[in-house]
Amino acid sequence: MPESAELSTTDQPDIGLGSAPGDTVEVEGVDAIRLQLRSWPEVEAYLRRCRGVIVPLGSTEQHGPTGAIGTDALTAEAVALEVGRRTGVLVTPAQAFGMAEHHLGFAGTVSLQPSTLMAVLHDVVLSLARHGFERVYVINGHGGNIATAKAAFAQAYATATARSLPVASRLRCKLANWFMAPPVMQKARQLYGEREGHHATPSEIALTLHLEPSLIAKQRPLPEPAPPGPIHGPDDFRRRHPDGRMGSDPYLARADHGQTLLELAAAALAADLQTFLAADD
Ligand code: NI
Repeated sequence: MPESAELSTTDQPDIGLGSAPGDTVEVEGVDAIRLQLRSWPEVEAYLRRCRGVIVPLGSTEQHGPTGAIGTDALTAEAVALEVGRRTGVLVTPAQAFGMAEHHLGFAGTVSLQPSTLMAVLHDVVLSLARHGFERVYVINGHGGNIATAKAAFAQAYATATARSLPVASRLRCKLANWFMAPPVMQKARQLYGEREGHHATPSEIALTLHLEPSLIAKQRPLPEPAPPGPIHGPDDFRRRHPDGRMGSDPYLARADHGQTLLELAAAALAADLQTFLAADD
């Protein structure tokens, strides 16, 4: 245990943050950076030293016949907590429901309409901005959230300005899709080639196997998947992709791959977050 851990004895907890804007410091465990476990005075103290916050964004949707419904939320939260641990930046609770309208043909999927998700993200950003958070870093686990999240950011900037929030001119939101980080895509290509596919991918399933070992028992060989195609409504999606997969072979996934992918994603996003926090413009 590093000596610094013994120094955290004041009633204003040291949750591992630097003294200058953009300074980030690795912390001992994830508990220190979970917003859910902080008190409001602790958050006030944090804001005197850091104006950044991480918001994990997932989805609750089918991931083929052997993948967990919670895949996108589990992975986004795990990457977010590891990025938070490496940087000392606070992590909010995960937003586990995303825009998954086209997966509603499969049992267990729970979707927010784009307008609902936009309103949720808008309100999350405005709540944080009101307290003085100026850099909102959304770690996303689902491609279907991307367009809506970006629209929500534009709406949040407009509202922050309209409400004359003190942080309005400095408010920045950034979307980081962990599965699109270049080192992650490179490793997925190397491990799975074309079998990575586009939905219920072995890379995301591997990460869930690392996080939740009970899911390993669900894995089994699957028939040739339907190829990727255009995405329209839920009935059309199920017609094109009868078992929910888009060109992927999740049976290639291994828990140790997931551990490697988590490391790669966290390293890439932690560096990106540090750049985001340090930028003046
Ligand atoms: Ni997914």
